[in-house]
Amino acid sequence: MDNLDQLVQQATADFAAAADSAQLEQAKARYLGKSGSLTERLKGLGKLDADARRAAGAEINRAKEAIEAGLEARREALREAALQAQLAAEALDVTLPGRGNLRGGLHPASRTLERIEALFRSIGFVVADGPEIETDWHNFTALNTPENHPARSMHDTFYLEGHDDVLLRTHTSPVQIRAMLAHVALHADLQTMPEIRIIAPGRVFRVDSDATHSPMFHQVEGLWVGENVSFADLKGVIADFLRKFFESDDLQVRFRPSFFPFTEPSAEIDVAFMSGALKGRWLEIAGCGMVHPNVLRFGGIDPERYTGFAFGMGPDRLTMLRYGVNDLRLFFDGDLRFLSQFR
Ligand code: DAH
Repeated sequence: MDNLDQLVQQATADFAAAADSAQLEQAKARYLGKSGSLTERLKGLGKLDADARRAAGAEINRAKEAIEAGLEARREALREAALQAQLAAEALDVTLPGRGNLRGGLHPASRTLERIEALFRSIGFVVADGPEIETDWHNFTALNTPENHPARSMHDTFYLEGHDDVLLRTHTSPVQIRAMLAHVALHADLQTMPEIRIIAPGRVFRVDSDATHSPMFHQVEGLWVGENVSFADLKGVIADFLRKFFESDDLQVRFRPSFFPFTEPSAEIDVAFMSGALKGRWLEIAGCGMVHPNVLRFGGIDPERYTGFAFGMGPDRLTMLRYGVNDLRLFFDGDLRFLSQFR
């Protein structure tokens, strides 16, 4: 049955020529379909007598099996080729460096606060805090700020609507009062009160906005009260802190006489760098002084027996100086192009 062998060869060649499964199915139909060449031959068997039919039938079946095997082999080859093409298209180079290295970082203002806290903790201070919505009494009255003091004016202070005795604290100094009252209550049964040594970092609020003022900014309050606390202690603590903060031994520190209602005497603290862009310029970074006797009294402490010093500094200013930033508003705009530089 030569022409059956030819048919098998022809079918195998057609299958091999099919470039995809659609073409392959068309080729299959030409041989095995309803009117395919092999099917036609099977139909022709009916005309033969029984013996011839059996012999021819066996031949045709062998050819059919060969064609089906060729078809299946080609299907498998096409499937494999499709899989290889897909793998090549979706190739992933696992040795490439990652693209999304998006790690967050601490805000520069938080970093400065953490640094200040760590330095003061190392000399025995503890961190205290108080509410950002404060009473007029804690924010002003107990800090020896008289009724008619300009700081109380509507102009500087955010008051809460409908409450003229409640405001957004304008400084962290009210934490001094809260810390003293809590400390005194805690040690009421002792002959001699242990020293108070706190710093209070936090947010404060004022009606003010330009390149160096933001309506919300940070302060760090400090308070040390004990039996023999002097202005010399204040100078030593502050000068030592600033040199450590700026990592500079030749930093110049100056105490310039000033006025605050809650301290007497009072001073402004200035620093000057001995090198860099700001070399030789005096920059104001904090206010300080010996705690006013009236303030000690409001805190429940006997000013005849105890003295103390206090200071309030602007950590945002320290951050600007440390990192060379010239616009305070950058800290609060939330612009990642700026913030990511501190990661
Ligand atoms: N509270 C003052 C302010 O906001 C800063 C200050 C000055 C705090 C002197 C103090 C101090 O504790 O002794 O301007």
